[in-house]
Amino acid sequence: MRRNVVIFILLLGTVFLHAENVNLLPQPEYMLQKEGTFTLNSNTKLFYNDAVAEKDVKMFQDFLRQHFSLALQAGKSKKIKKGVFFFYDETIPGEEYKLEIDNDKVVIYGGSAGLFYGMQTLMQLFPAENTAEVSLPQLTVKDKPRFNYRGALLDAGRYFFSVAETKRFIDLMASYKLNILHWHLTEDGGWRIEIKKYPKLTEIGAWRRETQVNRNAPTQDGLPHGGYYTQEQIRDIVAYAAERNITIVPEFDMPGHTMALLSAYPEISCTGGPFKPIEMWGIQEDILCAGNEETYQVVEDILDEMLDLFPSKIIHIGGDEAPKARWKNCPKCQAKIKEENLKDENALQGYYIKRICDYLESKGRRGLGWDEILESGAESNTMIMSWRGEKGGIEAAKKNHDVVMAPSTYLYIDYYQGKPENEPYNIGGFLPLERVYSYEPLTKEIPAEFHKHIVGVQANLWMEFIHTEKKLDYMAYPRLIALAEIGWSDKGKNYRDFTERLSYCLEWLDKKDVNFRIPEPYGLANAESSASSISVNLRVPVHNGKILYTTNGDDPLVNGKVYDGPIQLTLSKEKPVQLKCVVKTQRGRVSRTYDAFYKKL
Ligand code: ACM
Ligand code: ZN
Repeated sequence: MRRNVVIFILLLGTVFLHAENVNLLPQPEYMLQKEGTFTLNSNTKLFYNDAVAEKDVKMFQDFLRQHFSLALQAGKSKKIKKGVFFFYDETIPGEEYKLEIDNDKVVIYGGSAGLFYGMQTLMQLFPAENTAEVSLPQLTVKDKPRFNYRGALLDAGRYFFSVAETKRFIDLMASYKLNILHWHLTEDGGWRIEIKKYPKLTEIGAWRRETQVNRNAPTQDGLPHGGYYTQEQIRDIVAYAAERNITIVPEFDMPGHTMALLSAYPEISCTGGPFKPIEMWGIQEDILCAGNEETYQVVEDILDEMLDLFPSKIIHIGGDEAPKARWKNCPKCQAKIKEENLKDENALQGYYIKRICDYLESKGRRGLGWDEILESGAESNTMIMSWRGEKGGIEAAKKNHDVVMAPSTYLYIDYYQGKPENEPYNIGGFLPLERVYSYEPLTKEIPAEFHKHIVGVQANLWMEFIHTEKKLDYMAYPRLIALAEIGWSDKGKNYRDFTERLSYCLEWLDKKDVNFRIPEPYGLANAESSASSISVNLRVPVHNGKILYTTNGDDPLVNGKVYDGPIQLTLSKEKPVQLKCVVKTQRGRVSRTYDAFYKKL
């Protein structure tokens, strides 16, 4: 009997260890893990059946070379063979794929996007340790996304990020099966896209003299900032993204957020200027003049060049934060209101947005705008991006607009993710990982018949106070991974389970030198008890990392003990016990110091 119990426990242990190998993010739709493994080493052959699959095989070869020093040969074959096979099957729709691993082969079946995603799943099965031989669990994964639009906004308008930095962001997005990069390219503080017909946009609009670095004071860094992407660079980035199943949705934000444009071409403002690209963040009164026909000409010319660069069906035309004070006092705007029989300046914004969206439609594209454009009466073929909470998106879906949910109440990943006093300076807000992960786009408030209009979700990374790649990483990860699971997975969510899988993923990000925010140890939280002692259970947020802690106020990085099981704290009424922790990854990165207080009632 006793022996049976021991065997049972050993078996359980095996199952557990076995299951430990599979930590996918986002969670696939279906997975069946089997007994045994497939061994990949320097003798393993790679195959593809079609030129479409060949590009993925090349990426897989790069992955193996870079992370495991394995240089594997690849060859074309019509028939499935032993080894790792990328099988292009055009009958498999869209982003769907199947991954089969048995004892002598790994096969990915999919169309163009599906093969790429099957490969991402396969890569996530690899351990972060650099070994010459890798054991992959035998399994079947059948997978497809919940939403077609799974996006991230990169705000290059506030701060310019280089081509290499942008590509790296695309690589990371793609590894979590995100498929839309919303590229915010035009702002009050910078114009980032070369337009041949209007060279001053980048000669003047791409550069500012200095930048505000603290929201609560006019603190300027005194440093010029700027940059823009040439059309050649943009084509390169668009193609790079497309190879990774990412569509770039460019944003030309208008009629507001256009001070950089107006600095170059003040004649299409209401007052005539002069202007300069802004150096202090905030909403600007000066916007494009909607009464001047020349404005429409310039905007359409710019759009023509953008459409030539960006094959995306969806084009973001902004529409947010456009004060109407200038339009109220502008003879041209007032004349336009009369001429078009419009009620007021808000209706003029509706007219403006409709004209731009009609123009896009005439070119076979589709306009997408921030939720303000709903208030000024956008047409139902125009897509809405809900950012001021979910209200705009809910309302828009009920009016048959297709909607992308990007509510600032859940998905603004420029907001703080820990106690502000313990985090790098940022714009404000508070959206810790668990809050982001809890977001459900199909809320009760959207009747089921309108669910089809919620095309997806997006996290927005605004850059007012993010000017380095390190800080970008810190703000984006791990919250962007939570967003990826919201967008992809239809399995129901469990935060604990997510954080378990995430711990492996963070170990990988550490290996890739991504400066993600190391989460607090799970279980670290203020508590009160009437007992004289309390047991604190912590969980390490990064696989193979450790928690160092103190209970006497000392710096845990200097004097901390390694956490190796529940901590018993003796409580007193006089003074709460402060449990201070740092998390250290295996590669030596250290978190900020996190703490919690434990008190006797
Ligand atoms: C926005 O955050 N102004 C769209
Ligand atoms: Zn005007």
